[in-house]
Amino acid sequence: MTPPIDRSALMSTYRDPSVTFVSGSGAVLVDDAGREYLDFLSGLAVTSLGHAHPAVTSALCTQAGQLLHVSNLFGNEIGPEVAAVLDQLIGDGTRVGGQVFFANSGAEANECAIKLARKWAGRGRGAVVATWDGFHGRTLATLAATGQPEKQVGFDPLPEGFSHVPYGDLAAMDEACDPERVGAVLIEPIQGEAGVIVPSSDYLAGLRQLCTDRGILLIVDEVQTGLGRTGRWFGFHHAGIEPDIVTMAKALGNGVPVGACWARPEVAAAFSPGDHGSTFGGQPLAMAAARATLRTMIEIDAPAQARRAGERLTSRLAALPRVVAVRGPGLLVAAVLDGSYAGEAVARMLEAGLVANAPRTDTVRFAPPLVVTDAQIDEAVAIVGRVLDGFEPAPGTGGSG
Ligand SMILES: Cc1ncc(COP(=O)(O)O)c(C=O)c1O
Repeated sequence: MTPPIDRSALMSTYRDPSVTFVSGSGAVLVDDAGREYLDFLSGLAVTSLGHAHPAVTSALCTQAGQLLHVSNLFGNEIGPEVAAVLDQLIGDGTRVGGQVFFANSGAEANECAIKLARKWAGRGRGAVVATWDGFHGRTLATLAATGQPEKQVGFDPLPEGFSHVPYGDLAAMDEACDPERVGAVLIEPIQGEAGVIVPSSDYLAGLRQLCTDRGILLIVDEVQTGLGRTGRWFGFHHAGIEPDIVTMAKALGNGVPVGACWARPEVAAAFSPGDHGSTFGGQPLAMAAARATLRTMIEIDAPAQARRAGERLTSRLAALPRVVAVRGPGLLVAAVLDGSYAGEAVARMLEAGLVANAPRTDTVRFAPPLVVTDAQIDEAVAIVGRVLDGFEPAPGTGGSG
């Protein structure tokens, strides 16, 4: 094993990690001692094609040897193509005619969405209604949109104009959406960071109708759910709705930082040159990664893979005696345990060679690469089962021990 890494020059925004990974391939990670792990988190739903996918690696190497950066004052050949593919995927195979701004992260994609909505809505209608427990990023505006007050403590003053209502509650949204003040609703189609909370099937359709009736924009944050992970290209496709703005990031570059904010044409038209920008957004290296990622996802029918593998993962997890419920479509899956020991459970899973995380004290989240094999799913679930069986049964459950 290599000597421990001195992290003292890093800010303490994350707890000290217990493992350092040095390489990966597909759904397998390797640590600095040469030990292999099954990656059922994908860097939080990022590496959907698995680690070191040859198409992405080759596109990056070629592009790095050709041109990394020229600024957005000049064109590059790849960005327009990636934007057109995204427009087609948002239309579920048919071009919508929308337009894209490229950013470098999910929070930046949401910043763009918020600015665009405010510009579109005009003065006095800049308020944005989001949901409790929702997560939209850590920049000041996206933190204000994030419905988790504990994450906001210490960062006053936050930007104004954000309010929250309970997720899944259409009546509360109806009450909050005063069209004189509110320009946009910002919503995750499934709340990922909150623990894979899936709303009722008519919730998004109800929001769409409400927003249309009041002339309010519907912004769908697909940063975690987008690009095949839930078994459709986008989470909102399950609801059959047409959003006004869609944001995405995580899976778009298969690990290379890239975010995107798409808007339907009449909304995108609110931006003029000079209204928004980014030094790095849309630069050739990120675009090369995104193009290779999207081409490969289309080639392998990534949503179908997520559906098929998701059914296997979900049904096997649901059969474990210590799992009381399983949530989430495709490969965004949460297993609810029979007690509040998820944090310790994921630590023991890591020791046993499986990477997952615990978004709630009783919930373990799994987001493996969409290319995960059946054998890897079975091996992962076997590890989960062994680890959970090692905990004392919750009182009164008569658990399997
Ligand atoms: C739904 C959602 N929106 C936004 C973000 C923020 O993305 P980033 O960390 O790339 O800024 C996340 C990250 O987890 C997310 O899950």
